[in-house]
Amino acid sequence: MIVLGIETSCDETGIALYDSQKGLLSDALFSQIDMHIDYGGVVPELASRDHIQRVLPLINEVLDQAGISKEQIDAVAYTRGPGLVGALMVGACIGKALAWAWGIPSVGVHHMEGHLLAPMLEETPVDFPFVALLVSGGHTQLVQVGGIGRYRLLGESVDDAAGEAFDKVAAMLGLDYPGGPAIARLAEQGQEGRFRFPRPMTDRPGLDFSFSGLKTFTLNTVAKCKQEAGVTELAEQDRADIARAFEEAVVATLTIKCRRALQQTGMKQLIIAGGVSANKSLRAALEAMVEKEGAVLRYARPQFCTDNGAMIAYAGCQRLLAGQSDGPEVVPVPRWPM
Ligand code: KG4
Ligand code: ZN
Repeated sequence: MIVLGIETSCDETGIALYDSQKGLLSDALFSQIDMHIDYGGVVPELASRDHIQRVLPLINEVLDQAGISKEQIDAVAYTRGPGLVGALMVGACIGKALAWAWGIPSVGVHHMEGHLLAPMLEETPVDFPFVALLVSGGHTQLVQVGGIGRYRLLGESVDDAAGEAFDKVAAMLGLDYPGGPAIARLAEQGQEGRFRFPRPMTDRPGLDFSFSGLKTFTLNTVAKCKQEAGVTELAEQDRADIARAFEEAVVATLTIKCRRALQQTGMKQLIIAGGVSANKSLRAALEAMVEKEGAVLRYARPQFCTDNGAMIAYAGCQRLLAGQSDGPEVVPVPRWPM
């Protein structure tokens, strides 16, 4: 079965073709970052308008890349939610219209299920069951995964998502959106141990997270540093040291909770997915932790950690193989628990 995947939930138009037998055939992405950068974040109306321009040309691109014709597509998968409603509407309408015109089924996919299953696009096999850490701009969740659609929420952020905290701290340090990769780059220049930021909610039992206090702590550190130096703009080294301390605190917090989740569930496989799972320090800390626990860590290649069409084509394919498909209506779900 060849599935066309369409991802338009936020600021990337991601299109891919996945073959249930041969694996990923092709994928293409258009990122709108340059368009939103001046606003410091995604402008929903601009995002929707741009997706409209991109989807069909990118579909032609993935067909060309794979060397197949549209007649060979067996089904269409699109992101149904969660995300920006106007942006979701573009992918849903185009996906369903194409499926209807071509006389093939369509299926609406949960964006976070797409992220969760993205490591399965890699060659190293991932077998059920496992513990998954989903860390994106909108979600920070620990999930026990028994199979496709068999998800038990173990814990989640009670306030900001980890990616959101990266983005907000980046703005405090005068870095461009999206903040995660910018903080990671700046942190490499930072001095270890100059600041120690708190590891929120790690001193009490449970698997929930909280990142908003860490954000406030960062803001206060920035203010204190400026005051001590008697300046209005932070020096480059101060910014790097703060970025490093912030990243270390997020990484340590996520690592402590992942270890706890493995111990509580008795699972020996940890999967990380979502934009923040591209973070190299996080990967290194989790690699060291799983080794001690006698477990393994799996993740997707960096371009499949952030939003992409391949994960939607893959997740849609699994849903279709399980006998699921849409009715005729187009109903994006901007807020949707997995
Ligand atoms: O999964 P994603 O592309 O979109 C959502 O579904 O939210 O995640 C985007 C988030 C942003 O907050 C971005 O700053 C963060 O992932 N991110 C990173 C890195 N790359 C992306 N955070 C930390 N380190 C990175 N290398
Ligand atoms: Zn995402």
